[in-house]
Amino acid sequence: MSSAQDCRQAVQVDERRLVQALTDLAGFGGSVGDGVARQTLTPQDLQARTWLAARFARRPGYAVGIDEAANLHIRRLGLDDGLPCVMTGSHVDTQPLGGWLDGAFGVMAGLEVLQALDDANLCTQRSVQVVAWTNEEGSRFAPGLMGSQSYVQPDALASFLGVQDAQGMRFEQARDAALADFRHAAAIGGWTCFEARLAQPVYAYLEAHIEQGPVLERRGLPFGVVRAIQGVRWYQVTVEGRSAHAGTTPLEDRDDAQSKSIALAHALLRYAEEKRSLGLRVTIGRWTCEPGAINTIANRVGFTIDVRHPESSEVSAFDGFLREQLPPGGRIAVLQDKPTTRFDPELIGLVRKAAQERDIPALDMVSGAFHDAMPLAGFTRTAMLFAPSIEGISHHPEENTAEADLAACTQVLADCLLELAQTAPSPADPRRASPVL
Ligand code: GLV
Ligand code: MN
Ligand code: MN
Repeated sequence: MSSAQDCRQAVQVDERRLVQALTDLAGFGGSVGDGVARQTLTPQDLQARTWLAARFARRPGYAVGIDEAANLHIRRLGLDDGLPCVMTGSHVDTQPLGGWLDGAFGVMAGLEVLQALDDANLCTQRSVQVVAWTNEEGSRFAPGLMGSQSYVQPDALASFLGVQDAQGMRFEQARDAALADFRHAAAIGGWTCFEARLAQPVYAYLEAHIEQGPVLERRGLPFGVVRAIQGVRWYQVTVEGRSAHAGTTPLEDRDDAQSKSIALAHALLRYAEEKRSLGLRVTIGRWTCEPGAINTIANRVGFTIDVRHPESSEVSAFDGFLREQLPPGGRIAVLQDKPTTRFDPELIGLVRKAAQERDIPALDMVSGAFHDAMPLAGFTRTAMLFAPSIEGISHHPEENTAEADLAACTQVLADCLLELAQTAPSPADPRRASPVL
């Protein structure tokens, strides 16, 4: 093909194929419209991963791999596979009952780009690698972003291995089962595999995602160029009391963990309400109570807090208020603390330009949700692309996006990945990796 422009024109995403692939993926744990239950490393998640890998693992010019954090990598080999690859992806795990697009869209958009490159019979200079990151959501094993965090900081993995789910299963056991499952499927499927390792150099990372909020739809715009992700902190709060008989213990003699916790929760939500105009977001998402009997005063209550704001000073101010209000003997554990992440100005410019060239009106915006792009941004040049969410609904079975908007976002992703993958070796390459095969 003669010019970069000709190459770009030849790489056309196929809306019907993209939507069909997303619909098929939703079948692992649910369906479009009824929601998807595919928490990380559950049988549904493992089956989905096998299905994803099997679609590419035996094609000429492809190799698949799994790393120590059980991140799944699908690599379309470039002319010079020794160069740091261009990476895209997201996650296929869901909330306990989530929608069909959160995470899934970014993975399937990346795979649709690979299909479009195949259709165009185009071999890029650099390899293009699509990753399905492990446990982005953090709903089964907290915190979230375990796979992408481990990729950029392999030491972090050791601290995740002991984390248990509600049934007492350790992340390590679930991870080991995923590795064994992949190896078994690879052996019986005759897959072309490569040794996917953590912290391999990446030339640039782009992630497509649904917005999960109402901003684009309210502005009537079909596409978002994400310049930053607001900071997020997760807490586990524990309040202690003393169990006693509900019928016989006078109010003045009680040390009721439940009533102390409810008072604290009210104070925190009131604080958030007062800061509403500043954009502070506080969520109490999980609540447990011991012993959990109707007629016994609670001796222990635990609840989680998710607090988010683009300015770290607002998150710190909330932290100060929480500690001041905590009843004596209460404990606070920080489960996750991610400061606001700003993306690479050059990559943001590339995404903006690609949208303009396709005549897709775009909005520069800040993401309210966190994403795997957050850890990646500290490791390589990173940016994100958003497709609008209908009524801003997400983490809910009704999560949805117009098919044309999914396709437009995927087309911009394709144009950007192609441009990056055609970039020749330069001093911008951190170091040369060895070819994977
Ligand atoms: C990701 O799912 C988030 O909670 O932002
Ligand atoms: Mn997501
Ligand atoms: Mn999510």
